[in-house]
Amino acid sequence: MSETAKIELNGKMYEFPVVEGTENEKAIDITKLRQETGYITIDSGYKNTGATLSAITFLDGEEGILHYRGYPIEQLAEKASFIEVAYLLIYGSLPTQAQLDDFTSNITKHTLVHEDMKQFFEAYPAKAHPMGVLSSMICSLSTFYPESLDPNRSPEAKNLTILRLLAKLPTLAAWAYKNSMRHPFMYPKNGYDYCKNFMHMMFAMPTEDYDVDPVVVDALNKLLILHADHEQNCSTSTVRIVGSSQANLYATISAGISALWGPLHGGANQAVIEMLEKIHNDGGDVDKWVLKAKDKDDSFRLMGFGHRVYKNFDPRATIIKKACDDVLEKLQINDPLLAIAKKLEKVALEDEYFKSRSLYPNVDFYSGIIYRALGIPTEMFTVMFALGRLPGWIAQWKEMIEGGEPIGRPRQIYTGATTRDYVEINKR
Ligand code: SDX
Repeated sequence: MSETAKIELNGKMYEFPVVEGTENEKAIDITKLRQETGYITIDSGYKNTGATLSAITFLDGEEGILHYRGYPIEQLAEKASFIEVAYLLIYGSLPTQAQLDDFTSNITKHTLVHEDMKQFFEAYPAKAHPMGVLSSMICSLSTFYPESLDPNRSPEAKNLTILRLLAKLPTLAAWAYKNSMRHPFMYPKNGYDYCKNFMHMMFAMPTEDYDVDPVVVDALNKLLILHADHEQNCSTSTVRIVGSSQANLYATISAGISALWGPLHGGANQAVIEMLEKIHNDGGDVDKWVLKAKDKDDSFRLMGFGHRVYKNFDPRATIIKKACDDVLEKLQINDPLLAIAKKLEKVALEDEYFKSRSLYPNVDFYSGIIYRALGIPTEMFTVMFALGRLPGWIAQWKEMIEGGEPIGRPRQIYTGATTRDYVEINKR
């Protein structure tokens, strides 16, 4: 006998089915709630609401577990390449060598951007935030590929758009940085792998050879894997709901980039470094800033701390924290911000305010310190998050589109003025 949920409303009993996932998560299926009862549910921030059934990523916030298509993030971060993980998320299985070679070569073929798009960059001020540039540029790609405007045109057309996005996002991201420096753009090198190519386009100059440090490539590969997907987070939910209107994939990913920009979401990695720099410049008095974070009358928050789902350590933060030590040691960098971050974490984790609210370091707390060590400027940190999250957004969009999900359109409870007649302006 399958489990059901019984709700009594106005003396009448209603029964709704319970669905159970492969990892024993349970939900009450309220698909017929309004039709049968006239009632809807309210859940600000969707803290208790499942938007979909998904086979892509499983996370357990209480246990600090994160799996992509069943594979533990710890194993993928240690053993896989980012492109391999992108294939896994998008197509559902780890690729064979032939599949990976084919996928890699197809991406390599599309790394160039239409030359006309270079003029777009010239219109941006040097101080333009790269997330604003990237979101616009990705949406603008749709204007160069009109056949992509119908996301359901054909499986081949859909896959071509997926490959173009994976291939061109690094190029556009690097060019946004080069443009902000008013440096010449560097073109992709087909002989380089994904991470090495990105670092080449970011930091090489036409006037001299540029060798990408393998330590840097390995660290970037790990960071991108750790950011690749995270089930129904804010930007992924944005991608799913924008995509559900049948908007093209470029516009849909552009919306995801905009949602990620917020400091409560992907923008937190930039905010963490700015916070650590503020504490460092203020003399490094960590206790003072932890007090501010706890003070309800103070708008200061401990950026990089807390999470909607993880009420235990974010498993990604654990891996990134260790990678921090490794990368800084190998590159012989002594970053005072790392010492402040570790002290901040220690003080917070021993403090009742944070413990009682299950506030732990999240993926953004240490990632910025590694990006700094790789030479990535602070304003590019959230762009790095978008680079990593792109395969996850694509995989979630593909699952939604191929699953034939309806357009996302939540309900509401109206709390405004009741019916009233128009009043002529001279009588108001
Ligand atoms: C990401 O969803 C995902 O999966 C996102 C992400 C992904 O991979 O896609 O994991 C990436 O976005 C990570 C989160 C990055 N953001 C930050 O680091 C910003 C700082 N953190 C917070 O603003 C906050 O913790 C959120 C936004 C992450 C979560 O917010 P919630 O779940 O809405 O929780 P809340 O704001 O209601 O906080 C609960 C309590 C509140 O206090 P009380 O009202 O109970 O007294 O905890 C407090 C908050 O004031 N609190 C914090 C805090 N985070 C929560 N207090 C101080 N510092 C903080 N960082």
